[in-house]
Amino acid sequence: MSEHRHVVALAVTGSVAAYKAVEVARLLVKAGHRVLPLMTSSATRFVGPVTLSGICGQPVATDMWDPTYPGELHVAIADRADVVAIVPATADLIARLAQGRADDLVTATALCAKGPVLVAPAMHPRMWSHPATQRNVADLAKLGRVRMVGPVVGPVASGDVGMGRMEEPSAIAGAIEELLRGTAGDLTGKRIVVTAGPTFEPIDPVRFLGNRSSGKMGFSLAARAAARGAEVILVAGPVALATPAGVERRDVETAEQMRATLAGLLGPDQTGADALVMAAAVADFRPASASATKIKKDAGEPPPIGLARNPDLIAEIAGKRSGKRPILVAFALETGADEQVIAYATKKLAHKKVDLIVANAAHESLGRDENRVALVDGVGASPFLAGDKDVLADRILDRVASLLGS
Ligand code: CTP
Repeated sequence: MSEHRHVVALAVTGSVAAYKAVEVARLLVKAGHRVLPLMTSSATRFVGPVTLSGICGQPVATDMWDPTYPGELHVAIADRADVVAIVPATADLIARLAQGRADDLVTATALCAKGPVLVAPAMHPRMWSHPATQRNVADLAKLGRVRMVGPVVGPVASGDVGMGRMEEPSAIAGAIEELLRGTAGDLTGKRIVVTAGPTFEPIDPVRFLGNRSSGKMGFSLAARAAARGAEVILVAGPVALATPAGVERRDVETAEQMRATLAGLLGPDQTGADALVMAAAVADFRPASASATKIKKDAGEPPPIGLARNPDLIAEIAGKRSGKRPILVAFALETGADEQVIAYATKKLAHKKVDLIVANAAHESLGRDENRVALVDGVGASPFLAGDKDVLADRILDRVASLLGS
């Protein structure tokens, strides 16, 4: 038998989906990896340790205090493992990971991991969408130390259908392979420009026309793209947000300034980036002429503000691109029922000639930490996904990564 290619610590926690972890183990072993199996005590109620140890050819570790092991078992496993994969991960496990707890062998090993940690959540959709779980998932995303795979929309053990079903074993094994190849960043080597926030269009030196965009969605996208290995340039309108780690930031105020900054970054043939994600709420109109001096209230009748149309920045870039780069992602912020939001977004996709539209409803998005979006491309619209903007950013970037073929 040749050397094992890599070592994967496969930790199973207590969910009905635990039986699928056996298939993940089988795929990893088949690919030539050594798999060190771990189980929480509740996982052993769902699947027999003998099954897992039989597949892996290794004893299953379940107990931090294993008296037969000389030393600290979690440190020994973490030292050997190139990747720690938690498959399936329950809501409780995710909560403990988010808190940095180490109260059993699985969480202690994850906390001690020297390399990437992969988490494949599985739970009832109501548990997944519960604000506490979403907060925990968002906290993990912020820490940037865990790669989430799934969950996906589908039937769960109870027979209910929704977001919470564990990703398929083949996809989980594929994601583990990616991590093992050292491509934790599936966006490594990609240059991604993200715009965020509102634009302020001056009326006079102290007044402006603006909008209620907080910039949170764009900042989340920039943070997550950087965590996934991309070189990220964030073109930010006036917002009160800190620059995410590893992101290069360019501040602008007006649509015209954003246009000039993007032109500089993309270059005349638009190929200066692999992807452009326009999360900014660029003002459609600006005051036709800004007063050079402050307009005084006692200078007669209130002056009318004539408006001029701003250029549509992303449509302009789409018009100039000759090949498939950069991948163009626009947002559609609409009011109305879901079907109407999708219909407007589908129209916008064709009109702006972009690759993907992130459709969201204004009342569920503006200024909030969470959002609810549907992804609309040339093939159709995804179901609406709800969650923290950090988590949704990853789902949007999954699509960008697949459009980039990475
Ligand atoms: N956008 C842009 N340049 C503009 C306006 C918008 O690039 N001048 C981008 C935004 O960053 C966003 C998308 O286009 O990605 C939003 O499309 P837009 O046509 O502005 O949507 P609405 O303003 O909602 O359009 P409408 O008023 O037609 O509903």
